[in-house]
This record gives sequence, structure tokens and C-alpha cells, in this order.
Amino acid sequence: MALKYVDEVSLQGKRVVARFDFNVPIKNEKITDTTRIDSALPTINHLLKEGVSKLILMSHLGRPDGKRVAKYSLKLVGDYLAAKLNTEVILTESATDGGIKQLLALPKVKVVLLENLRFHPEEEENDPEFCKILASYGDVYVNDAFGTSHRKHASTYGIVQYFKDRAYGGFLLKQEVQALTKITETPTRPFVAIVGGAKISDKIKTIERLIVAVDHLLIGGAMAYPFLKAQGKKVAKSLCSDNDFELAKKILQQSSAPKMVLPIDHIVADSPEGQAQSCTSIDIPEGMMGFDIGPKSVALFKEKLATAKTIFWNGPMGMFETEAFSKGTMDIARALADIKAFTLIGGGDSVSAINKSGVASKISHISTGGGASLEFIEQGELPGIQALKFGL
Ligand code: 3PG
Repeated sequence: MALKYVDEVSLQGKRVVARFDFNVPIKNEKITDTTRIDSALPTINHLLKEGVSKLILMSHLGRPDGKRVAKYSLKLVGDYLAAKLNTEVILTESATDGGIKQLLALPKVKVVLLENLRFHPEEEENDPEFCKILASYGDVYVNDAFGTSHRKHASTYGIVQYFKDRAYGGFLLKQEVQALTKITETPTRPFVAIVGGAKISDKIKTIERLIVAVDHLLIGGAMAYPFLKAQGKKVAKSLCSDNDFELAKKILQQSSAPKMVLPIDHIVADSPEGQAQSCTSIDIPEGMMGFDIGPKSVALFKEKLATAKTIFWNGPMGMFETEAFSKGTMDIARALADIKAFTLIGGGDSVSAINKSGVASKISHISTGGGASLEFIEQGELPGIQALKFGL
């Protein structure tokens, strides 16, 4: 069954209960990156323009573990939305507040934001009663929370059962699915993926899936060291858990392992706070730890990327938050911007790296989902999207 999007139906006069991913970073009571809220605006504006009678917005923020935690209130999100939409956005006391029904009965009330869904343990438990309460607020359900659609939670999954033939995807969901499908279905070749980050174990399924699908898989970040060690190279004090070492050995035994490209030089130090030094050899000297890929590795990676027609990047090449260890990640970010290929970036750290490098506008698609984009690559589907397509 095809997934229907909000622009394929008339929603005039309907009460729409809609899930977004307003999980934005907040520091000192300020939203430090509004990308996720901004990405939801096209759907919200469309619904308002369509003349829906009520718009009930739902989201989580952070991981409050089923408890009311003041710093995870959606208050700042509500204020930001009100300013952007130039309309009143009423934040409810809680997602199950007994007064919500009365509030929605008031003719003047248009946009209501339910307080953080994860203040209720029932959200993550996909509790049937909780699903029913959320569903009771709308005639129609919309999911535009791509970044949370890998979760089988009440607001992204269980709720759909109450909206047979009345559940739709939003524009962000559509954009994300279309972009990621270019990678999961028939990517234009050569297809090159760059995976970095701290641990192999965090991304094992993605690596296993990608190594089969790609022409080259470039590995950077701390996760490169277990692979190098498994190849008999010296990694000295670099991060390398026993578990990651075992996983690396297993992957290197696969027939597609030759597609993997590992760093050939490094930027090292004796500790994360230590003085950065260049290590021109693939072997890391005794007492040292690798914190970034070196210039020869950057050149090697760029050579593999140069002819690519599809590129997927997830995870930094080193500890890029520290200036001295950021060059590898920044060089790769800039290289991506210069290549004539379909470029897709997913995952929080690589997205901040691309933003920091100032070339974000040259990337074909930057996913708003971290875990969600990886899971989409692994499975070609997400539970929240599947529920929209097929119902529950
Ligand atoms: C994210 O930040 O990736 C999404 O908002 C999902 O959050 P979660 O990992 O806490 O479920």
C-alpha cells in the first residue's frame, strides 16, 4: 500500500493530531539548534493553510524516562513555534490533561502543543490506553517525526490503529524517505559510504548492510582502530574494546571486506588532552592514541570519493570537537561539498561537523534523524512509516 502524504488529501475542517520530532538541543534555557523545528514548519504551515479546525502537536524532548523533568518541558519549543507561526500555541499541562478536550472545544483555540510525551512512561511502552487518549484528540493523524519513526512508541506507532485510512505522512517524512531510498534501493554507482564514530558495536548492523551495498566503505574515527588491530597493525593505546575487536575480525573475514578502506596515517596524542602529533605510519607508536585520520588518509579517502555518484556519510573521522583533532573530519566535509554526486549525511555528529565546516548548503540531503536514518539504511523501512503504509 502506498504511503499517503498530507498534500494528497483534503484536511479542511479536520482536527489533526500530528507527531513531530521537536527533540532539539537546549543550553542555558535556549534552543541551540532549531533545525528540527524549522524542518517541521512546511507541514504545519500547510495544515494551517488547508484550514484544519484544530492542530494538536505532539513531540518528545530528551529522555526524561517517564517522569516530569522541568528541563525537558516543551515550553521553549512552544514559544519558538508561536513566534514562527505568528499564532498562539497553547502548551498543555500534560499530554493526558483532563482539560484538553474542553480546550479543544473552544472555537478560538487553533494550535495546541501537548507537553513532552515522554513525561509518561506509557509513551515508550506503547501503552494501548495512552495511544487511545492521544488518538481521541484528532479525526486525522499525521506523522512528520522522521527522527523518531524508528521507535515503536505510542505516538509514532500504536496510535495509528485508531486512524484506519486517516493516517498520513508529512513533508519532512516524505523528503527523508525519498532521499534515503536513493541509497537503499538502486544507488547510482559508484556508491561510497563513509562511516566513523567511536564504536563498531554502535553501528555494526549499518556496517554489515553497507559493506554489501557499496563500492567502497571508508572507515574513520575511533572505530577504525579495532579493524587496524585485527589486520595486525599496532594501535597502541587507541580505543579498542575486546567486543569491537571481535566484531572487526568477523567483518574482515567477509567476502566483501576488500571494499573497506582504512586510515593509513593518524593524528595522535598520549591522551585526549595531550599535544597532537602527526603519525605518518599506519602503526601507532607505543604510549600513543589515535584521535584523527592523517593527511595521507584524507587523500586516500578523497581519491575513493572523487568518482562517486552516491555518497553516504555517518560519523566523524576523529575527535572533531577538539580543534587539534578536527582536520580529518573537516577535510572530508569540504571534500563532499565539492563532489558532483548525490550526497546524504545522517547522524548528529556528522551533521554538526558539516554545519561547522560551513558547506552544509552544498550537501544534497542532511537527515534530521540520527538513529532513524541508520535504521532506515539497515532495514529499508521504519516501524512508524510501515504503520502509516499498512496500518496496525
Ligand atoms: C533523536 O534525537 O535521534 C530522536 O529524537 C529520537 O530520540 P531517542 O533516540 O531518544 O528516541
